[in-house]
Amino acid sequence: MAFSLVRGLLEAPEIGRKLDLHVADPQHTQLDRFAKLAVEVHTDNNTAITQTDVVVLAVKPQVAGQVVAGLDLTPQQLLVSIAAGINLVSLQQWTRMDQPIVRCMPNTPALLNAGISALFANSSCSQEQRHHAQSILDSAGVTLWVDNENQLDAVTAVSGSGPAYFFLLMEAMVEAGVGLGLSNEVATKLTLETARGAALMALDSNDGPATLRHNVTSPGGTTEAAVRVLTDKKMSETIGYALFAAATRSAQLAEEFGHLSGDRN
Ligand SMILES: NC(=O)c1ccc[n+]([C@@H]2O[C@H](COP(=O)([O-])OP(=O)(O)OC[C@H]3O[C@@H](n4cnc5c(N)ncnc54)[C@H](OP(=O)(O)O)[C@@H]3O)[C@@H](O)[C@H]2O)c1
Repeated sequence: MAFSLVRGLLEAPEIGRKLDLHVADPQHTQLDRFAKLAVEVHTDNNTAITQTDVVVLAVKPQVAGQVVAGLDLTPQQLLVSIAAGINLVSLQQWTRMDQPIVRCMPNTPALLNAGISALFANSSCSQEQRHHAQSILDSAGVTLWVDNENQLDAVTAVSGSGPAYFFLLMEAMVEAGVGLGLSNEVATKLTLETARGAALMALDSNDGPATLRHNVTSPGGTTEAAVRVLTDKKMSETIGYALFAAATRSAQLAEEFGHLSGDRN
């Protein structure tokens, strides 16, 4: 995720060239992929963050506490966290209660600058810092702000984990296509191009997905036959349960990894 953000930032026409980017990872091998980019690499986090306005936290939630507590942040530095489930209270406890912090939830299509990220800022952030955080995430795709921090659990369930649901649907369609006599190659191409086409149509249209589906479902036709099976098998309800499980897990992560034996306070 850090690599996607850095690459996206460097390619952003308005800001890319003006940035002084530093990347830190304690393992040198992890820094190899950054070597060809116009960034400075460090194996010490605090060396990387001296003299930067913004620090992006892009480590796994499991190590977030230990990493953040070890950072020598100044009160003016903006911390932008993309760690799933690590809430503002924890981040503030590991830094200082009035540290400017923006929490974000991006998703993996950020690799292709086709991600979507939701952001939430604490009250210590200035307008300029909010703008700064947004311009970083803009380089990974589309951005939007949510009204309260709890909504980030729902965002995680919908878009953070969302690509995996579509991959699962693709897997199932390919498998079914093969079962119907297509080669794996043909079934895969048909499935992926259909996914791309459906997403483009939905993005391009002012109608919602329900209307688009209705428009392509002729009474007594093939689509209706398939949709009836999906409805009978309670597909929508199942997706509701799945997203609820993801949102619940996101909230649990805050509980599991939001505490740190080495808390400063
Ligand atoms: N991937 C997604 O779809 C996605 C979506 C939304 C949000 N996120 C969030 O983004 C964050 C990063 O996810 P990811 O998938 O990019 O994880 P990742 O591939 O494991 O990247 C985390 C990087 O941080 C490094 N790291 C570990 N300890 C460190 C330390 N003490 N100081 C500096 N760097 C350290 C890791 O190195 P080692 O491998 O050597 O430990 C690794 O290179 C997570 O918190 C995740 O919740 C991910």
